[in-house]
Amino acid sequence: MTEEIIMKIAEPQDADSLRELINETIDTCYSHVYPQEAIDYFKDYHNRLNIVKDILEGYCLILTSGEEFIGTGTLLGSNARRVFVKPKYQKMGLGKRIMYRLEEKAVEKGVRIMDLDASLVAYPFYRILGYEIQTEEVTPVKNGQNLRYYKMVKKLGDK
Ligand SMILES: CC(C)(COP(=O)(O)OP(=O)(O)OC[C@H]1O[C@@H](n2cnc3c(N)ncnc32)[C@H](O)[C@@H]1OP(=O)(O)O)[C@@H](O)C(=O)NCCC(=O)NCCS
Repeated sequence: MTEEIIMKIAEPQDADSLRELINETIDTCYSHVYPQEAIDYFKDYHNRLNIVKDILEGYCLILTSGEEFIGTGTLLGSNARRVFVKPKYQKMGLGKRIMYRLEEKAVEKGVRIMDLDASLVAYPFYRILGYEIQTEEVTPVKNGQNLRYYKMVKKLGDK
């Protein structure tokens, strides 16, 4: 039987399951694009404390299939962050579903321009959703390696 996919608001006790989902997605999706030092930086950035903080201060969504956490995304002010869909469930429209809900919530809160940091992996996805590159950023990580990403924005209401 195929489980129904449910979207709900995350609670602090969901942080560990969210972290597992995020780490698995980073390990699978980033290894062909980023050096290990950048992967370690991403994983540390999405630590338990930061996840709980954003659950409490922002609007954090989770997608579940039965007991399994399969996707997430958070809105904090005008910033969409921590958008991840578990590899097995990618390219099924779930990322879009998460982003559209975050954009709807942002509009409800009066946000006009949504912003986000896009990994090199996620950048094509955000382009399809109408986000435009504002700047390319380079963050130095360990062993002289760099982490490249894009700052992107979208004017809400312009679908
Ligand atoms: C980026 C991500 C959230 C997209 O989620 P998803 O559920 O696979 O996306 P969807 O199925 O909703 O895709 C929406 C559209 O984007 C396209 N798309 C998604 N990922 C893509 C990619 N990596 N390259 C090119 N196109 C992509 C889809 O084909 C689809 O196009 P369509 O509307 O023309 O059919 C997901 O792949 C992911 O978690 N990636 C790794 C983690 C990551 O980088 N997260 C963002 C943190 S900055």
